[in-house]
Amino acid sequence: MFQISPEGFSLEGRPLRLLSGALHYFRTLPEQWPHRLHQLRAMGLNTVETYVPWNLHEPRPGTYDFEGLADLDAFLHATAEAGLHAIVRPSPYICAEWENGGLPWWLNADREVRAVRCQDPAYLAHVERWYDRLMPVIAPHQVTRGGNVLMVQIENEYGSYGTDTGYLEHLAAAMTARGIDVPLFTSDGPEDFFLTGGTVPGHLATVNFGSRATEAFAELKRFRPQDPAMCMEFWCGWFDHWGDGHTVRDPKDAAAALAEMVDAGASVNIYMAHGGTNFGTWAGANTKNPATGEVYLPDVTSYDYDAPVDERGGTTEKFRAFREVLEQLADGPLPDPAPMPALLPAGRVELSESVRLFDVLDGPDHLATPTVASPVPLTFEELGIEHGLVLYGTDIPGPRKAYPLSVQGLADRAHVFVDGELRGVIERDSDDPWPEIAVDGARTRVELLVESMGRVNYGTAVGEHKGVSRVLHTQQMLHNWTARPVPLGNGTPEGLPWGTATAGPGPVFHRGFLDAGEPADGYLALPGWTKGYVWVNGFCLGRYWERGPQRTLYVPWPLLRAGRNEIVVLELDGCAEPVVEVRDSPDLG
Ligand code: GLA
Repeated sequence: MFQISPEGFSLEGRPLRLLSGALHYFRTLPEQWPHRLHQLRAMGLNTVETYVPWNLHEPRPGTYDFEGLADLDAFLHATAEAGLHAIVRPSPYICAEWENGGLPWWLNADREVRAVRCQDPAYLAHVERWYDRLMPVIAPHQVTRGGNVLMVQIENEYGSYGTDTGYLEHLAAAMTARGIDVPLFTSDGPEDFFLTGGTVPGHLATVNFGSRATEAFAELKRFRPQDPAMCMEFWCGWFDHWGDGHTVRDPKDAAAALAEMVDAGASVNIYMAHGGTNFGTWAGANTKNPATGEVYLPDVTSYDYDAPVDERGGTTEKFRAFREVLEQLADGPLPDPAPMPALLPAGRVELSESVRLFDVLDGPDHLATPTVASPVPLTFEELGIEHGLVLYGTDIPGPRKAYPLSVQGLADRAHVFVDGELRGVIERDSDDPWPEIAVDGARTRVELLVESMGRVNYGTAVGEHKGVSRVLHTQQMLHNWTARPVPLGNGTPEGLPWGTATAGPGPVFHRGFLDAGEPADGYLALPGWTKGYVWVNGFCLGRYWERGPQRTLYVPWPLLRAGRNEIVVLELDGCAEPVVEVRDSPDLG
């Protein structure tokens, strides 16, 4: 059996050093899992670690999805077939630069839930129901039942968040009651307050860091003399925010940090060994200040992470540097890296068909979601939508002279229309002035098209609402709102009446076709476009934004077929020319 002692781990009585790499099944298409897992083996790893994002699997309370990209059972089978042990970090909260840290958006809408990530009874009731469905998927894969899952995590870096250790004990008991009998563990930063808030007596404690392993393990030892040294997240790269620079970490520096752990005899989980992609609208966000939740920083679509196995599954200089460190620990020669799939030739695709969003809002197609009326603007959660756009509208009674409009609780970006004319685009936290609006006649129509850019996944702002909370004209609250939700992300805008968009304000859908000789990987660039979403054959690749640093979107080969492939772009702000470029290399900034 798998056992833990102060000296380290052992399996069936033989010492086992965990050389693990994080790889999230939900950030890579299932057809590509074997390829990515092979790359981990070729780097010299013997274990793979994954989170489980609750919000992907339970899109509505009691409705579950374990298919395709969400097929955790198939992924765990694939990890065993690849000859790897597995570590599972199963939620409820995962952080992970993932929408809302993995917590479902509908928790934010449930008025019974007073707080998440603590022993709030209504929150725990949702967690228990989720665990009823999830734990039976994981349990058969445990090493105690002939599988390859060695350990399961309790919550995630709880010490960074709170002090309700009873909550952690509750989760541990809830997993045990549902058949999880491998060791449970926690992972936290190597600081006193993280470790006192995040660890649970009787369960292994591990630490997360990017460098200075010796100090980190010494701090862990001080708190937990009986626990072996394991870094559960060795940050060998990092993620990017829209509008910031692209983060890279020197491969030699990262390999030296890895060697320091290896020399200390420690076990390690490389975060990320392969990052993958935040497809659809799954990218999370940070706030500059995790304590106050101030200054919103949304994450880009790529989760390449500057990891040793890149977004496309290719090996990098960091891969080779890590392999050099790890191969000394291998029993025999390491396998060669897997061959790479074909790449699309570089080219251009004209998106010659188009239709204006505002022309289809009232049309007979599926975008015409019902108008919801309410005295005050409803949040996305109250409207029952996870992500996308909501067109809020109301009338300002007149006559009155010009007063400034102001919006409170904007999340995250609003196009402001006055009597149908675009008067500005305002972002959350920006100091840009809101337009002044005068009303000459009996009334003037104000509309706000609000976009959600991903819910915060770290700190006190987790569980935030999208939309707007209050709109004022001078000091006066504006009442009697209508809302038109346009959910985006998981699913294509199908059945649009394609033609040539009429002139006028608001976002525009564009469509064109890419001819491919065979399913192949590619990168899409959108030079001259501003901000929006891209779908390939109905699958949402994610968001793009001229602000960068990311300039190309990765197109995984399983999305394409030989022949004609549909590309749809929803451009929110306008583009110079409706042409996308196919490139043969990524540009992450
Ligand atoms: C923390 C979290 C991870 C991830 C990393 C940063 O360690 O536990 O989920 O957010 O930070 O990539």
